[in-house]
Amino acid sequence: MMNAHEKQTGKSRDEIAQAYKSEPWWYDVRGFFILTFAYNSTLWEQLRFFGPNFGARHLEVACGTGTLLELVLRWRTWKKLPARQIVGVDYAESMLAGALHRFKGRPDITFQHADAAAMPFETASFDTVNVANAVHCFPDVRGAVADIFRVLKPGGTVAANVLLHPRGFAPLRMIAERINAWGVRKGILVGAYDQDEILGIFRSVGFEIIGSRVSGNCLNIMARRI
Ligand SMILES: C[S@@+](CC[C@H](N)C(=O)[O-])C[C@H]1O[C@@H](n2cnc3c(N)ncnc32)[C@H](O)[C@@H]1O
Repeated sequence: MMNAHEKQTGKSRDEIAQAYKSEPWWYDVRGFFILTFAYNSTLWEQLRFFGPNFGARHLEVACGTGTLLELVLRWRTWKKLPARQIVGVDYAESMLAGALHRFKGRPDITFQHADAAAMPFETASFDTVNVANAVHCFPDVRGAVADIFRVLKPGGTVAANVLLHPRGFAPLRMIAERINAWGVRKGILVGAYDQDEILGIFRSVGFEIIGSRVSGNCLNIMARRI
């Protein structure tokens, strides 16, 4: 059955993966542009949000080419936080190829091809999960949030930032709306959310929301598997 967001774009997970096929340099430039003008956020903000949420065994869902993950890990080293065992998953083979190349020779980080809504991991096998800039790209968001809940150990935490419908000052809001509409047409974005809608999805699969904060046009969510 399709959820509301699948209906918005009608795109399947394979079409979304295909839309993510691009040159690594263009992916990074485009990402910076989207972060600044659609998310109204900064890299620093993301480092501070995702950096602390790394348990002994960590899962990075929709890791992309690992650009942000690499910066987050540098931030952790700078903060003298401990090294962790990390598994990254993504559904776009082209993105995963970039991540594999980036972290070649790092035994502490492995990658697997997987749909966020059907991950090939044992139940309760991770201490923490991060989902950076990706919840709003999932065609089956409820399925993905439910599977993240499943693979987390009881007490484990997930950090996720979710794109909200643009807000604030009209010119900036209109720029963000245009970028979002372009992203939906291109297939790299499924759609923005209302705060209550996305928090409701997290709660409906069993998560306890332990923190949520609007930052620019995003909602940063910290949730715990009870
Ligand atoms: C905007 S990118 C974010 C990548 C990375 N987390 C970052 O912050 O740089 C969104 C990612 O979600 C991935 N994605 C989309 N649908 C997915 C799905 N169903 N399962 C796993 N990954 C998916 C895309 O392939 C893409 O790499």
